[in-house]
Amino acid sequence: MAKSAAKPVSSPGFDPWLSSQRLFPPYEWTEVFGRRAPVEIDLGAGDGVYIEARARREPERDFVAVERLLGRATKIAKKAVRGGLSNLRVLRLESAYFLRNLCAPGSLDVITLRYPDPWPKRRHHGNRILTREFAVDALRACRRGGRLQLTTDDRDYFEWACREVAACPDWKGDEAWNGAEEPTSEFEEKFKQEGRAVYRKAWGNLN
Ligand SMILES: C[S@@+](CC[C@H](N)C(=O)[O-])C[C@H]1O[C@@H](n2cnc3c(N)ncnc32)[C@H](O)[C@@H]1O
Repeated sequence: MAKSAAKPVSSPGFDPWLSSQRLFPPYEWTEVFGRRAPVEIDLGAGDGVYIEARARREPERDFVAVERLLGRATKIAKKAVRGGLSNLRVLRLESAYFLRNLCAPGSLDVITLRYPDPWPKRRHHGNRILTREFAVDALRACRRGGRLQLTTDDRDYFEWACREVAACPDWKGDEAWNGAEEPTSEFEEKFKQEGRAVYRKAWGNLN
């Protein structure tokens, strides 16, 4: 007898997925850094050129670099050790997971995204980091008056990201921020040499 085609899976009456949200409690930044200071996170930090410069320049603030590639995360850790930067930590993890599950409500002062992967093809837009869900998570994790800041060379992504954040009305465009005080990063240098435009925007948490 010929085998029948695979049957569609019917509801088994239970959820086979275990929630990864139960793995770890959120970080207590005062325990991590051993003091109470403003905390900034840099998501997709690359080799850490930007975050190292910030940590060096502003010892009164604490910085967390999140990067999913081991080689890049390791370079950041080396920069922290060589520079004696006790206000800089690195985490090798996926940024959106980190923000949603490991950052307590109101625990962050600034969330930075510099040159996030633009995923230009429409069918890849689902991979983009700055979605409206991300904007909601960022709002929850940011203290009142805190900031979300984006820098990108990709105009389409920039406009798309602005629309995604606008769907979360408690983020208000921070017109005073133009990124002029920001140190550079490795991708910024590369794109500058290629003569590409730069798009920057920040939003403040009015919640
Ligand atoms: C274009 S590079 C920009 C690096 C750095 N911010 C800069 O300005 O030079 C994007 C970085 O984000 C990292 N990345 C991409 N998606 C990520 C994610 N979902 N979670 C953590 N890191 C991610 C990549 O591995 C890469 O290092």
